[in-house]
Amino acid sequence: MKIAVTGANSSVGRNFLLHLINQTDFTVIAGIRSKSAAASLPSSPRIETRLIDYDSAAGLAEALAGADCIVHLAGILIESRNSTYAKANVEATAAVAGAAELLHVKHLVFISVVGADANSANAYFRSKGEAEKLVAAAKCGSSIIRTPILLGRGTAGGSSLIGAASQSRTKILGGGRYRMRPLDIDDLNLAILHCCTKKATVSATYELVGPESITYRELVHKTAALIGNTVEIGSIPIWLAKLGAAINSRLKGGGITPTVVDVITTDEVVEDNADVNLELQLTPLEVTLQKIIGSE
Ligand SMILES: NC(=O)c1ccc[n+]([C@@H]2O[C@H](COP(=O)([O-])OP(=O)(O)OC[C@H]3O[C@@H](n4cnc5c(N)ncnc54)[C@H](OP(=O)(O)O)[C@@H]3O)[C@@H](O)[C@H]2O)c1
Repeated sequence: MKIAVTGANSSVGRNFLLHLINQTDFTVIAGIRSKSAAASLPSSPRIETRLIDYDSAAGLAEALAGADCIVHLAGILIESRNSTYAKANVEATAAVAGAAELLHVKHLVFISVVGADANSANAYFRSKGEAEKLVAAAKCGSSIIRTPILLGRGTAGGSSLIGAASQSRTKILGGGRYRMRPLDIDDLNLAILHCCTKKATVSATYELVGPESITYRELVHKTAALIGNTVEIGSIPIWLAKLGAAINSRLKGGGITPTVVDVITTDEVVEDNADVNLELQLTPLEVTLQKIIGSE
């Protein structure tokens, strides 16, 4: 099976490629936007790097030709002058959904986020909700996997957690009282592959979260203890963080915005975890934390 991956140089993409590297049943088209991004990809004779752009579905289909399945990973939480939610999350997904139709792929897999909602007041959650709608409407089988914060090699969530847990004192948003369901990126890799290899005629949405609900505060303490550290946790008031984010992002034309602060501090709550449907045995949180401590 040939799997095309968009945003192959994203942290999820690089982990997925590493997961596939020893699996001889698969070949990969790694879609990236710049030549420089190729350097960050694992190298293997079964991974073919292709430059893609999202300006047209037809151009994208030409670049991804030969794929049986497309895994669409390109997407952002933090906007910049060059990359907005509208462009990266919505327009790029429209182009990928169009390309999937033109190529008659068997399956389009899209990584979304817990909280995605086309009617959300939050611009990030709204853009992911709009992207989900585009994927679901594509005339091919599709799977949408909504994920919480991902922990694994090179993930932003993993790096900032280790950073906070390694200090003797740290200040986190609202004292870290929001709840999370961290998911091991290796579990996400298995879920993506499960979807790719399953025949799909309609669109299915899965909410896949980790096995434990924990506040960010507890997560930092737990990680610190595993490192052999103790950390005193202070609080950055959320209103103050939003004010600072509003000013800085306006001056810089991007970066952490009040929208991002809201995303980070929103409780990750899921009614039905999709682990059973996706035939997964979730990695215990402590094992995930040991893995990211070992990889930093
Ligand atoms: N990491 C998490 O905890 C988490 C949680 C929930 C959902 N997700 C979703 O998982 C996917 C991968 O996340 P990640 O954290 O691994 O991403 P990441 O490392 O931040 O990488 C972002 C990717 O999006 C691409 N991109 C940026 N602007 C773009 C644009 N305007 N058009 C097309 N592509 C653009 C980047 O390509 P360039 O390098 O060329 O800019 C890069 O490949 C995203 O869809 C994200 O929403 C991630």
